[in-house]
Amino acid sequence: MREVIEELEERRRIARLGGGEKRIEAQHARGKLTARERIELLLDEGSFEEYDMFVEHDCHEFGMEDQKIPGDGVVTGWGTVNGRAIYVFAKDFTVFGGSLSKSHAQKINKVQDMALRNGLPIIGILDAGGARIQEGVDALGGYAEVFQRNTLASGVIPQITMVMGPCAGGDVYSPALTDFIFMVRNSSYMFVTGPDVVKTVTNEEVTAEELGGAKVHTTKSSVADGAYDNDIEALTELRRFIDFLPQSNQSGVPVLPSHEPADKPDLSLDTLIPSNPNMPYDIKEIIYKVSDEGDFFEIQQDFAKNIVVGFGRMEGSTVGFVANQPMVLAGVLDSDSSRKAARFVRFCDAFEIPVVTLVDVPGFLPGTAQEYGGLIKHGAKLLFAYAEATVPKITIITRKAYGGAYDVMASKHLRGDVNYAWPTAEIAVMGAKGAVEIIFRKSLDDPEEIEKRTKEYEDRFLNPFVAAERGYIDEVIQPRNTRMRICRALALLKGKQLDNPWKKHDNIPL
Ligand code: HXC
Repeated sequence: MREVIEELEERRRIARLGGGEKRIEAQHARGKLTARERIELLLDEGSFEEYDMFVEHDCHEFGMEDQKIPGDGVVTGWGTVNGRAIYVFAKDFTVFGGSLSKSHAQKINKVQDMALRNGLPIIGILDAGGARIQEGVDALGGYAEVFQRNTLASGVIPQITMVMGPCAGGDVYSPALTDFIFMVRNSSYMFVTGPDVVKTVTNEEVTAEELGGAKVHTTKSSVADGAYDNDIEALTELRRFIDFLPQSNQSGVPVLPSHEPADKPDLSLDTLIPSNPNMPYDIKEIIYKVSDEGDFFEIQQDFAKNIVVGFGRMEGSTVGFVANQPMVLAGVLDSDSSRKAARFVRFCDAFEIPVVTLVDVPGFLPGTAQEYGGLIKHGAKLLFAYAEATVPKITIITRKAYGGAYDVMASKHLRGDVNYAWPTAEIAVMGAKGAVEIIFRKSLDDPEEIEKRTKEYEDRFLNPFVAAERGYIDEVIQPRNTRMRICRALALLKGKQLDNPWKKHDNIPL
């Protein structure tokens, strides 16, 4: 009996070494942790239970039958993050470059299936060289088995990808099917085809970092939702992020203890809006001031900064914040900001996370670049996302809510549950200057008349009261009481019941 126990320990020791000391050293020399070190950092101490540690590939091409390493390049299992269970798989770059074989794919499939069946999130940590070249079509099939499961799990359990090394070829599409992708600066990159192929096909010369580094994907392509300086920071922030997320679409949002009273007024909000309507202010200040302890986890903070999205808590429960940002392009809606916010609202709706929307938007961005780029379709994505969402929707208009953007930003007409406006709100078809130039076009050469009409328009429309008179705004509230109003509304909406008509699925304008 003792011998077999010792043998088990010896087998485990060998498996834990993955591709061996030398490759582990090389991994460290690049500033990267190994797969098991990453899992250890991510999970609560001692909580990891590994599966399939002894699985090997079954390839007989190119001498592979003589090269078998237990685990076959991916470490899989489950553990807890602050006491809540999650499934995890981490590619082991020290074993065949973390490349995907049939057995490797089957290990991932096993935890994917278990996560979906048990209603628990799954985290994938990638650091890999794509399909196991020696396996050919078996590797391709293995990828598709992973993709199929990603797709079925979408909207049922949260799926998060950490890209912590190379991620190319077949490895990119599973992350793209998950809910969130985070990267590590300078040690990770993602692309469908690498610099060499790019050079051959298009004659462009680019480095891996220029083609698919964290900067590219967090600022240009919006493939990634955030980036961190190193593995440790990335995994620590991932733990913080997981605390905001429900376990599944059935579990309800997590509730953490909150020490912030719900009814404490914040007088500084009364003076936040500048007296000049064209002056910017930071909408994030409102998010920090109304959410529990100002703990806000922002998504895509370096992309389409004219809209801010992310998770916070109100009285301990997770909410999603969507807010136009007057500091960037005056908070205008364009294609990028519409897509960014639409995806976020859909995630919240899928996982029953209430959405709090802060509105200060001068409209949609005019111009050929936007129109040629499909602003109509992209803007419609956000419109669609808000319109289909059945979660509690609370909207606060702080200043401008002009034109179509008024409709889009969780207005009453899109089944907003509680719609408030600050006294500084301006709810109108457009700003005064543009409006007067259209309706009094004939008087354009009479500056006095134009000035008079502009004043008349401002007095009549640039306030919240016309909308409030019609019931499109439920109440004009004091800015200082915003947190209290949101908390009360959320408490009231806990029992909200709203269903959309039966359908196989919708047809969001993709
Ligand atoms: C088998 C692989 C491998 C692969 C790397 N290795 N990629 N083995 N299949 N795809 C092995 C190497 O042989 C090496 O083994 C070890 O991993 C480390 O690789 P290095 O090249 O030494 O490391 P590095 O210099 O850091 O370069 C990393 C890399 C490079 C950029 C990822 O290895 C690379 O370009 N790999 C190939 C990428 C690729 O073309 N993949 C196929 C994509 S096609 P030893 O024993 O020396 O340590 C694809 C299609 C699927 O994925 C589509 C499905 C939809």
